[in-house]
Amino acid sequence: MSEAGGGDHKRRASLPRKANPRLAAGRARALGLPTRGTTNANRLRRVDRWLLATQVPRLRDAARPLVVDLGYGSSAVTTLELADRLGPEVHGLEVVGLEIDPLRVAAVRAHRDPPRVDFRVGGFELAGLRPVLVRAFNVLRQYDEESAARAWTTMSAGLGPGGLLVEGTCDEWGRRAAWVALDADGPLTLTLSARVADLDRPSDLAERLPKALIHHNVPGRPVHAFLQAFDAAWAAAAGLSTFGPRQRWTAAAQALVDGGWPLVGATRRWRHGEVTVRWSAVAPS
Ligand SMILES: C[S@@+](CC[C@H](N)C(=O)[O-])C[C@H]1O[C@@H](n2cnc3c(N)ncnc32)[C@H](O)[C@@H]1O
Repeated sequence: MSEAGGGDHKRRASLPRKANPRLAAGRARALGLPTRGTTNANRLRRVDRWLLATQVPRLRDAARPLVVDLGYGSSAVTTLELADRLGPEVHGLEVVGLEIDPLRVAAVRAHRDPPRVDFRVGGFELAGLRPVLVRAFNVLRQYDEESAARAWTTMSAGLGPGGLLVEGTCDEWGRRAAWVALDADGPLTLTLSARVADLDRPSDLAERLPKALIHHNVPGRPVHAFLQAFDAAWAAAAGLSTFGPRQRWTAAAQALVDGGWPLVGATRRWRHGEVTVRWSAVAPS
């Protein structure tokens, strides 16, 4: 059994072990298990915008600017979008889409002529590549918390020098998203990002928290306290609603800072319906 493949117990139990070629082939090389391949064009635009705004220097400084998109799903669309967004900014960018399901890899390869992105079978071991950046979106939600933690460790260990792993989830249309950035030493930040006009309150994003946090959003835990503080700041900024929901979000973010929450990154990101907080402030104790 693969190192991080202990997740998705119910699905694994229901799979006919010998009759499933996807599972068998995936196991031979890659760590993890195939899961539902749901994806959509433009679904990952929020995390991609954040990558463009914050990670281009990391890629430009790298001797080999290699990016891995792990678990691209039933179509290659979000991987190709990632390459199209970062490509103009990073000379010599290489993008590899990894998928644990070999049938999905074969299907994508058959329809790419000429190939802009390299698509390969791979799992949490990152197919032995040493990327500067890994985007793993909507992959770990279907694993249990312990397996997801092991997957973080495995992927972080596979990063190249100065590399970053960005692991998160979003809704089907990419309007609500949350992600964690990690380097080889562990998690650094949690980012929340939303189409603010669709939110009743910031804690609506709780449903999109990464696996490492979602079960810890209960009273007494740091991530719950953070979301409660954000909701309170949002309520206090209700008067700004007439100027638009993003003004209200921005005022609420400023109130979080004033209240001592360690938001990091440029404050202009707030206008995009985004906030990034230090991991240490929300980490499960
Ligand atoms: C829900 S899709 C996400 C697709 C795309 N990343 C997105 O966010 O729209 C999850 C994909 O991750 C793949 N997957 C699950 N575990 C994996 C692993 N350990 N390594 C590589 N791919 C994996 C599944 O087979 C599935 O195709």
